[in-house]
Amino acid sequence: MDDTVFPDRFLWGSATSAHQVEGGNVNSDSWLLEHVEGSAFREASWDAIDHYHRFADDIALLAALGLNAYRFSLEWSRIEPAEGLFSQVAIDHYRDVLACCRAYGLATVVTLHHFTSPIWLLAKNGWESPETPGLFARYVRRVMEELGDLIDMVCTMNEPNLAWTLADVGMAPREASGRAVDPMLCGCARALGTVPEAIAQFQFAATERAFETKLAAHRAAVAAVREVCPDKPVGWTIAASDIVAAPGGEQRAAAAQEELCERFYRASRGDDFIGVQTYSRTWYGPDGPCDPPEGCEMTMQGEEFYPLAVSESIRRAYAVSDCSILVTENGIATEDDAQRVRFYRQAIGGVAACIREGVPVLGYIAWSAFDNFEWVFGYGPKYGIIAVDRATQRRLVKPSALCLGEIARTNGREIVPATDDGMQPGGEVSK
Ligand code: FCB
Repeated sequence: MDDTVFPDRFLWGSATSAHQVEGGNVNSDSWLLEHVEGSAFREASWDAIDHYHRFADDIALLAALGLNAYRFSLEWSRIEPAEGLFSQVAIDHYRDVLACCRAYGLATVVTLHHFTSPIWLLAKNGWESPETPGLFARYVRRVMEELGDLIDMVCTMNEPNLAWTLADVGMAPREASGRAVDPMLCGCARALGTVPEAIAQFQFAATERAFETKLAAHRAAVAAVREVCPDKPVGWTIAASDIVAAPGGEQRAAAAQEELCERFYRASRGDDFIGVQTYSRTWYGPDGPCDPPEGCEMTMQGEEFYPLAVSESIRRAYAVSDCSILVTENGIATEDDAQRVRFYRQAIGGVAACIREGVPVLGYIAWSAFDNFEWVFGYGPKYGIIAVDRATQRRLVKPSALCLGEIARTNGREIVPATDDGMQPGGEVSK
């Protein structure tokens, strides 16, 4: 068998996040946003895919594919449903999940905050409150004390920068005053008895105050993790857009690159790794994001099919942050699983090329293990390597899951770095 460029103990995994798969997260602020008058959510999460009760079978399935890592998140609103009151039952639940991963030989990559916060935090100004970094660090410390022995890698928070990507497409106001005209945030304020300006929800808070708050919370969380578990690698995960300029968009693209990504990469210096999360590349014209050139292959989410975006993002994140890289999300929304297989093979070829160039890449984690609740888009987009019939909660393994499992089992031996035109030699669907 040919040799591989992937180092020993390279992580090959797939990911989920608590709110997107568990079901019944009634204390989370996303649940509230899903149900208020004026909600932008197409549907509510409800039972999701009942991963909360089915985690053991789900983890067994992922291990059987041949993967060696599982990235998932802990739900703060379950662990601390009321301010200062920690649920031992919830903590014990996550201990069972972690122990299950151990039993199946899966490394655990744990995200401590994946978009959702407890409703009580949102009611007190959420991700703009000067209290939030300290409250987050208290939760992190508790979790690390209770569960740290079973956690292999820690992501403090997921995509603190996403809000600015949403701001560029008009989905998140850059000033708190802009919330007063957002029907969902107004509905939320009414439900909480406060004013819309005070509704600083993690995904939608794109003010400078939110930037400072997220940064301070990350720093406080890293310090807490290092104090309790000094040997655990810790970092955060960044929506690492591959931003490219359409004709005339050079300046606008450079400004977006700085606001959306590079200031976050710089803020990662000194962390043990940076989580890179990339789906496609984004074209910028003189007025902001614009359509890709005519004739591009597209995904069902209206994004360009461009598997090499992840390698471009890896190079840039590494150059600016000087951190080791863990690909914590990469994938494609599609109903055509053969398209997904093509995507993964080419994307992983791009990762191999980065490793050949000397970039320290620690692992590749696909989004997502399962078709799940895709936030405002509800259950429409299909990112999973495993489908779920939500009427029966039956899981159905897709060919892309077998393909990733095979790549994992052989540590990427059959993957050849992608060529300049992005084509993966021998990249035919094998299953
Ligand atoms: C990322 C999120 C993840 C999922 C994918 C499609 O921005 O981190 O939860 O929704 O996009």
